[in-house]
Amino acid sequence: MTMKALVLAGGTGTRLRPFSHSLAKQLIPVANRPVLFYGLEALAATGVQEVGIVVGERGEQIREAVGDGSAFGLRITCIPQERPAGLAHCVLIAEDFLGEDDFVLYLGDNVFLPGIRELTDAYAAVRPDAMITVQKVADPAEYGVAVNGPDGRVRRLVEKSREPVGDLAVAGAYVFSPAVHRAVRAIRPSARGELEITDALQWMVDRGLRVQAHRHEGYWKDAGRVADLLDCNRALLGALEPRIAGAVDARSRVGGPVVVEAGARIVRSRLTGPLIVGAGAVVRDSVVGPHTAIGAGCLVDGSGVADSVLLDGARLSGVRGLRHSLVGRDARLSSAPGPHRLVVGDDGRVVIGT
Ligand code: DAU
Repeated sequence: MTMKALVLAGGTGTRLRPFSHSLAKQLIPVANRPVLFYGLEALAATGVQEVGIVVGERGEQIREAVGDGSAFGLRITCIPQERPAGLAHCVLIAEDFLGEDDFVLYLGDNVFLPGIRELTDAYAAVRPDAMITVQKVADPAEYGVAVNGPDGRVRRLVEKSREPVGDLAVAGAYVFSPAVHRAVRAIRPSARGELEITDALQWMVDRGLRVQAHRHEGYWKDAGRVADLLDCNRALLGALEPRIAGAVDARSRVGGPVVVEAGARIVRSRLTGPLIVGAGAVVRDSVVGPHTAIGAGCLVDGSGVADSVLLDGARLSGVRGLRHSLVGRDARLSSAPGPHRLVVGDDGRVVIGT
């Protein structure tokens, strides 16, 4: 049985402004690699080879980052979406690419550990009309929610309701048979004007088609908000193999799992893993970690940073006690005693103190 994949990497990324103003949200790095790459690796591990990626206005960035897919062992075709008209709309415009094959629908900002192999295996074993992934969450109002029978058969799906019908969130990996194509053609836009995949699934349920729920037991996160992105960063750093390829001077101390990429320099500093320091970055007279990803070409000077992500080229100077922070590409932060002087970009968010 051949199975394809459709990865969704368009959308607006409103919840990740200002980062998404200049970077596709699926390319924001966690543990120094774009979120999207973890999804592509998870797909490759299922045996899928043919992948369509739906792209929006930042399509060029996505194309450049993934290339033809060979780096992941995949063949990738980009499918442009004119405007973010919904997840089911993505399936609609990908109909020619998908043909009559079963396919995984994978949301490009979702991370699953250790992957989605259990989902595709479960689908192959049962061959329902569709299989969704679910996991218990504390904040179901933020997600699509599924209500299932005792046999794991889906009875009802509700998209982001203020009064959730349960606590089983629909996670961003689904497997569909070609039966979904009739559903996405039949449904109408929701109150927020999108063709919802939850509505397409409900359409299938209502017509007696078999939609099955698969519980993901491992780690899952939709990295669509800053706090979730930092949580993902923690989880992925925890899975890194320690490796020191850069230069760590004799006056620095390194503890815990640490990756220092080639060309990076650590000078008179203390690193506490898990953390990663990207290629060509300099960490000087600083205390870094745990749970911190320092991007390529960053400078961390006389600073202290933990539980944070610094995108490529960011510079910290004299900034102590930085926590739970996301710092954009080439951003510069410095601190001195006295009043605060700030230059904050459009949609920027700054919290001084906690
Ligand atoms: O993460 C799980 C949740 O994902 C589910 O619980 C919800 O049922 C489902 O609707 C979805 O909700 P989100 O609000 O998180 O979806 P988001 O708008 O972030 O879109 C998911 C991915 O699809 C993201 O990478 C952007 C992309 N996308 C989105 C839309 C609306 C597109 O490529 N085109 C689109 O038109």
